[in-house]
Amino acid sequence: MRIGLAGTGRIGAFHASTLAALEDVERVVVTDVAPQAATRLADDNGYEFCPDLDDLLSRVDALVITTSTYGHAPTLRAALAAKVPTFCEKPVAATLGETIDLVHLVEEADVPVQVGFQRRFDAGYARAREAVASGELGFIHTVRANTHDQSPPPAGYIPTSGGLFRDCSVHDFDVLRFVTAQEVTSAYAVGANKGAGFFTEGGDIDTGAAVLTLQDGTLVTVSATRYNGGGHDVRMEVMGSEGTIGVGYDDSLAVRSAEEGVDYPRGPQKWSFMERFLPAYRRELATFCELVAGRADNPCTVRDALEAFRVAEACEISRATGRPVTMDQIGDAA
Ligand SMILES: NC(=O)c1ccc[n+]([C@@H]2O[C@H](COP(=O)([O-])OP(=O)(O)OC[C@H]3O[C@@H](n4cnc5c(N)ncnc54)[C@H](O)[C@@H]3O)[C@@H](O)[C@H]2O)c1
Repeated sequence: MRIGLAGTGRIGAFHASTLAALEDVERVVVTDVAPQAATRLADDNGYEFCPDLDDLLSRVDALVITTSTYGHAPTLRAALAAKVPTFCEKPVAATLGETIDLVHLVEEADVPVQVGFQRRFDAGYARAREAVASGELGFIHTVRANTHDQSPPPAGYIPTSGGLFRDCSVHDFDVLRFVTAQEVTSAYAVGANKGAGFFTEGGDIDTGAAVLTLQDGTLVTVSATRYNGGGHDVRMEVMGSEGTIGVGYDDSLAVRSAEEGVDYPRGPQKWSFMERFLPAYRRELATFCELVAGRADNPCTVRDALEAFRVAEACEISRATGRPVTMDQIGDAA
């Protein structure tokens, strides 16, 4: 199949190379509002470059959206109008209202749209989900989740990111639903800035923490930072009355033991989300091709993405007001 890709920045260039290596994909056609880098990427890798989105949509079987967050909604609307099945990087849109509108539009258009929450394709999170579903952990009472980037993204990315909870912790919020099969009912969040000034200037934080409650009373703590010098550290612990399971606990764990004589973890550490989730990104895009071919169900819908975004929204409101927020205060797509 011919796949179009809109947005050839960090994740766009990475996804383009993953797509080009898939058996189902015969051609990758790229576009970007900044054509110079896109043309170079196309020339260097044997992709086609198409400057116009509508023209590109008329020539492909499916589209992958990897533009900056503000480009997602208009690009997805164009793809829906052209009836082109689409993979859209998270978040579906920059605002809650726009995300809700798109949920309705996607469901009316009846065009497959998969959203890019790659942790759903990570073997560790899949195992944790299985452990919860099988009951082997007993009853679940506590979940701890974290996304700690080794170093901040480029300064220019921050004003387009939507903020730490919508950009970064949203992955924890999505995979929390995936692992526990529970919805969040309330959130209390705080943030701090100790790093570069561009976070404060952009109205963002570089470190955040949230306490969530799930519908069955399970307590969840989520932490995020852009400054984890020891490595890219993404983990989840699910604690139950019969046992605890941990995602991300292998020799690449970005934590040094303080205990004498302990040589775990042996390293090497991982340094970026691309390194940490390489196999998951491959499975995610391979599944998208299966979805386009009609051989797979949608593994992550716009409604799933909306639920994760709503939790991020609750955290941003809680951080701004200093109060806990219940999820019934946040708009939905009922
Ligand atoms: N799932 C993940 O793990 C993951 C990781 C990184 C980024 N992302 C998401 O991917 C998106 C891109 O992130 P990035 O780090 O690659 O950003 P980036 O700034 O490196 O790249 C964005 C690219 O999109 C282009 N662009 C902007 N608006 C456009 C439009 N309307 N049409 C076409 N091109 C447009 C820009 O010129 C740029 O080349 C963000 O929404 C981010 O949240 C997801």
